[in-house]
Amino acid sequence: MALYATVMDTITFYTGLSPAAFFTILALMFVVYKTVCSMFVDPEHYDDDKKPITAANDFTSPPAIREPVQLGDVTADELKAYDGSDPSKPLLMAIKGQIYDVSPSRMFYGPGGPYAMFAGRDASRALALLSFDPKDLNGNIEGLGESELEVLQDWEYKFMEKYPKVGQLVSERTVKQTGNGDKVQETQNQEGDAHEHTE
Ligand code: HEM
Repeated sequence: MALYATVMDTITFYTGLSPAAFFTILALMFVVYKTVCSMFVDPEHYDDDKKPITAANDFTSPPAIREPVQLGDVTADELKAYDGSDPSKPLLMAIKGQIYDVSPSRMFYGPGGPYAMFAGRDASRALALLSFDPKDLNGNIEGLGESELEVLQDWEYKFMEKYPKVGQLVSERTVKQTGNGDKVQETQNQEGDAHEHTE
């Protein structure tokens, strides 16, 4: 008991504070210290977010993004298969007949995404008109005004910059046999220019 009284007297003697005030201030200082510490990263854990992500510790990230595969000529019908309904296939979308791999933006174009209706097709008309109307979900840019074509051009630049181009839309594909027995795959691009590839 004598020790307790001595400690209390010493606190009052050195700080000029009552023991109750002294301990309250001490507690407040501790809380402030803990709060400030929590704002900084412990040096030991500084690199934690840079450590390689393994299947064992990756619970939040989406599946690894695959390398884009070049598809070459693709018909509108074939492009439909890349609308995100099959998660094993890349997510593709075309602007002015050029096909882009938009898989990194699955949150926009994947099933349930706000722009899912653009996936697996040429969405030029909808983008030019800033329209979600199903009748505009196609690549027909006939009859568009100058400003609408400018809007479309801006979209095209954005996609060229952001996504890899993986092919081009062709309106039809026929495989014909040449005189010397070679198989020639004839495609027609959207502008109607025919070109041939020998297999
Ligand atoms: C109420 C009007 C709209 C709002 C608030 C809105 C908002 C947004 C936002 C916040 C983004 C994400 C931007 C980013 O992080 O890069 C976005 C992306 C996009 N928006 Fe809209 N949007 C609107 C209308 C439209 C319309 C009318 C279209 C076309 C018909 C459109 C097409 C797109 C496309 C294609 C993307 C994705 C671009 C990309 O792949 O980076 N949006 N929008």
